[in-house]
Amino acid sequence: MFPTPQVVSGKMKAIIQTKYGSPAEVLRLGEIDIPATGDDEVLVRVRAASVHADVWHVVTGRPYVLRLMGGGFSKPQNPVPGTDVAGYVESVGKNVTTFRPGDEVFGETIKLMQWINGGAFAEYVSISESALALKPQGISFEQAASVPTSGLIALMNLQGQRKIQPGQKVLINGAGGGVGSIVVQLAKAAGASVTGVDSTRKLEMIRALGADQVIDYTKQDFTRLGERYDLIFDVASNLSLSACKRAFTPKGIYVLIGHDHYGAASGRIFGSIPRFIKLMMISPFVDHLSGEMNFAPPAKKDSMAVLRELLATGKLTPVIDKTFPLSEVPQALSYLQSGQACGKIVITP
Ligand SMILES: NC(=O)c1ccc[n+]([C@@H]2O[C@H](COP(=O)([O-])OP(=O)(O)OC[C@H]3O[C@@H](n4cnc5c(N)ncnc54)[C@H](OP(=O)(O)O)[C@@H]3O)[C@@H](O)[C@H]2O)c1
Repeated sequence: MFPTPQVVSGKMKAIIQTKYGSPAEVLRLGEIDIPATGDDEVLVRVRAASVHADVWHVVTGRPYVLRLMGGGFSKPQNPVPGTDVAGYVESVGKNVTTFRPGDEVFGETIKLMQWINGGAFAEYVSISESALALKPQGISFEQAASVPTSGLIALMNLQGQRKIQPGQKVLINGAGGGVGSIVVQLAKAAGASVTGVDSTRKLEMIRALGADQVIDYTKQDFTRLGERYDLIFDVASNLSLSACKRAFTPKGIYVLIGHDHYGAASGRIFGSIPRFIKLMMISPFVDHLSGEMNFAPPAKKDSMAVLRELLATGKLTPVIDKTFPLSEVPQALSYLQSGQACGKIVITP
């Protein structure tokens, strides 16, 4: 039974951020107006949201360059963080045709850019119709909310020459994290032989997700084990191209995701961007980087439909590590940063 739709106005609980800084210092639970719903938007009553590395980046405002990419220069433009959400459609704008009140949906609250507050850590959020999909039956709100950003990053980086082919050997470095755990499953669904690299406590989960082999990076350097891979998907982003060359098949492709380990692995001002630019500049001359140029993000609507289908058909099963109440978003982000989570971290209002 769908809950009865109602006209929504008034106040809601939300996590509010008025300046950049550490999550514990700048995030507080408060009350603000329920957001207005634009003509092309859907008002979603949030049942679950989730955290990921980019939420941490936007809350802290680091690297600084991200503030110039839409987030707000001296303080966040949107005071409510969070981008991944699942819930009920409460009301729809006048141009919305795909959804109706009562539908169970999930999506990413931002239109294009990753590095802005998206309003998901609240009781209600307005989302563009094109950034939502119907939640499959049999998938919980918590599971659905854990997928969008990680899934969209995975799909965006597996296009064109990076598209996984049956029989390929694929290695995912950082396979136990948000993006990696999805790529493991996408690669298996595509018929690849999958090797997942991560820390000791995540290996069992990676195997359960379908990886054929797992390698503990704290004990072994996969580039020195004599195996060769058609695709090295580097979520942890700590690999050098020269080291990867030892582990590539002749046409093996390298994909850099650009994890900066919460500021520990790259500069305060530009983060991972210089490394991306360097790879793009040398890509015409390096076969293993042939996938680094020429890719534009696919339409979010299409990618959300792909994620929905993967969830509905059981090819993608999200793993939840822990759920925090809305008031504990700072603790959830601190737990994310600690790297202890084995699966996704969910927020429930
Ligand atoms: N390229 C793009 O299109 C794009 C777009 C937007 C965002 N991003 C970036 O994409 C990243 C997504 O990361 P995520 O959410 O998957 O992160 P995550 O959940 O933190 O996963 C990273 C995984 O890497 C593991 N790891 C750490 N050091 C490692 C090492 N030396 N070798 C192998 N594995 C290692 C971590 O495990 P332990 O902690 O246990 O070691 C963790 O399981 C974010 O940094 C985000 O900023 C990329």
